[in-house]
Amino acid sequence: MLVLRRSSFCLRSAALLTVLFSIAHAQTKHATHPWMNASLSPDERASMVVKEMTIDEKITLLHGTGMKGLSPMSPLVVHSNGGAGYTPGIPRLGIPAIQMSDAAYGVRMSGENGRYSTALPSCVAGAASWDPEGGYEYGALIGRELRAQGYNMTLGGGVNLTREPRDGRTFEYMGEDPVLAGKMVASVIKGVQSQHVIGDIKHYALNDQESGRNAVNVNIDKRAARESDLLAFEVGVEESDPGAVMCSYNRLNGVYACENKYLLTDVLKRDWKFKNFVVTDWGAAHSTVKASAAGMDQEQPGWIFYGDALKRDVQSGKVPKAELDDHVHRILRAMFATGVVDDQTPRSVVDVLGDLDVARRLEGQSIVLLKNEEAQLPLDSSKIHSIAVIGPHADVGMISGGGSAQVDPPGGNAIMPPGKGQTRWLEPVWFPTSPLKSVRAKAAGATVEFNSGFNPEEAAALAKKADVAVVFAYQWESEDMDLPSLALPEHQDELIAKVAEANPHTVVVLETGGPVTMPWVDKVSAIVEAWYAGSAGSDAVADVLFGDVNPSGKLPLTFPRSDGDLPHPTIVKPPAASLVKPGPEPWKQIAAGLAPFQVTYNEGVEVGYKWYDAENKPVLFPFGFGLSYTTYSYSNLRVTAGKNPQVAFTVINTGNRWGAEVAEVYAALPASAGEPPKRLVGWSKVQLKPGESKDVSIEINPKYLSIYSEQQNGWQLIPGEYSFMVGGSSQNLPLKQSVSLN
Ligand code: BGC
Repeated sequence: MLVLRRSSFCLRSAALLTVLFSIAHAQTKHATHPWMNASLSPDERASMVVKEMTIDEKITLLHGTGMKGLSPMSPLVVHSNGGAGYTPGIPRLGIPAIQMSDAAYGVRMSGENGRYSTALPSCVAGAASWDPEGGYEYGALIGRELRAQGYNMTLGGGVNLTREPRDGRTFEYMGEDPVLAGKMVASVIKGVQSQHVIGDIKHYALNDQESGRNAVNVNIDKRAARESDLLAFEVGVEESDPGAVMCSYNRLNGVYACENKYLLTDVLKRDWKFKNFVVTDWGAAHSTVKASAAGMDQEQPGWIFYGDALKRDVQSGKVPKAELDDHVHRILRAMFATGVVDDQTPRSVVDVLGDLDVARRLEGQSIVLLKNEEAQLPLDSSKIHSIAVIGPHADVGMISGGGSAQVDPPGGNAIMPPGKGQTRWLEPVWFPTSPLKSVRAKAAGATVEFNSGFNPEEAAALAKKADVAVVFAYQWESEDMDLPSLALPEHQDELIAKVAEANPHTVVVLETGGPVTMPWVDKVSAIVEAWYAGSAGSDAVADVLFGDVNPSGKLPLTFPRSDGDLPHPTIVKPPAASLVKPGPEPWKQIAAGLAPFQVTYNEGVEVGYKWYDAENKPVLFPFGFGLSYTTYSYSNLRVTAGKNPQVAFTVINTGNRWGAEVAEVYAALPASAGEPPKRLVGWSKVQLKPGESKDVSIEINPKYLSIYSEQQNGWQLIPGEYSFMVGGSSQNLPLKQSVSLN
């Protein structure tokens, strides 16, 4: 007892001494480094540091240390944590290095660094949950795993609109609607930054196709840009205050995005009051004086323009000193605001099991049930005797999205021979999350057999003798490529059609980054969109197939009937003159500027459903659509006019299962506004027990009801009649009320 008491006395004294020591330490630190006082504002702290810095220290903070193939390499790169970017800190001033990693749906490059990362469902899946709280959890998981691995900045946060659904990065973005995408990316960034990691929103702006991305000149008028792609960024910036915005590779209306004063200064920094920094995409810088004046703050991954060249131009007065200081201030401000200076916690172990649970739950909320004839799903394991699991690699894994978003699969690529588990640029990666095993686990009493589908006849023969056939079909996407068309590759359309012919109870599970065409749509009984499902993908899909999870995702993008129905039936490809010529140091040609080719977005604001609505084109599955194992009804709409109109209504779960319904609110503007027939202005994901009814009230942000006026250079509400429509998808809106707004 005495021993115990003495030891607790010792512990208490030790704790007291530690506290006293840290207070004393903090006080001395504050005396020499007053900016370490966390009660000051990030701007005050940044200004104090800038005053202490030499010109060389300032320049150091404004660029990276290099990446093979993309820029020159500095010897300092050895201090990089192994991510895509590394900017050394200023140790004498207590400013840590910025260690950046791509982390779109999980932390990249963990394999080659001998670390572990969880792959979440792809970003477009996150958007399909329509759940900002889930988005926050998504971001917080990424932030935690970044910190655990030694990073303090993410390069995630892709929010380019799905203007061109064959864009190879559709899976990395948040769909076709600016309000949904903006709000969802904001929730992810808030989650990331809650872990003291600098968040980033990219690729600013209109980098909506991969083909010729370093050369393309995108033409679009200002109003259309502000109301579509730029609005997604505006909402994201406004709601999450990201530490960084990444300017994109392409030109916009004749000027490269990273030296585009309209984009970087007039819109981002002036109109949206963005206080943090603009980082270039990797190799997207093209000048020193022009880029600096336009508002580009940091060059990555090297220092072609913001190293010696910048120092020289500052010293000769071509770049004003105040401009240099502003770039530095913005970076430091972001570091203070997000807590990366105050919280320099060392690395730790990733919570592998906990994070797998999160990945499974988030995927469960993101899966979209597209078709379910005669309640084919959920499968009742007590009644089913045999299941045929069919599809390329469905015995071992599920596909993931490639490029700089690629997460390395723990356990290795599921379809590579042993020892070849590393990921390579432009090679598909299958995560070892096995649909066959997950289905077998749920249907313990049934015979579950597998066929790859490489021979459709054999697959159909297996399907014929089973109670149910589940076909896992995939469409692989990656950065640095666009899809040739929306059709499933590798004869999968033929496979599905053959299987469906053999078995009327055919369920198709899609592992895709975006929409696909479905010539077999009427032949199968159920369709489940699982997206790229992440590390725990197959279990999450099985949860939905067998009814342990009631699907609640809704499409964040339209599934058109054919490529021909898209605003641009074919993607404009770069001519030979706009391509990098073979040879060493290709980055030099890119930096010097490739010959432009033109892509003209004359559909303007009519992106996604706004296009099909305006053109009166029927679609396969509309934006906002998704079925559930229960049913809902909507009633009692009450719209109250005012500066921020209120839209109130009742949703009832009319079925006999618990469910979560995404209740969507659209508005039609007065005809004089000259806008597409309707736009999403709000939503709420409502949890409902069987038979339960809930009153929902949504306050509408007036900006979402406005048009962008070029004359007034701002948002303008056009006085007149506004119709508000409420329901479960953009094409199922049973409630409607008009009010006059002014
Ligand atoms: C991509 C960015 C990425 C960067 C660093 C670029 O190719 O476009 O999204 O963050 O590389 O890996």
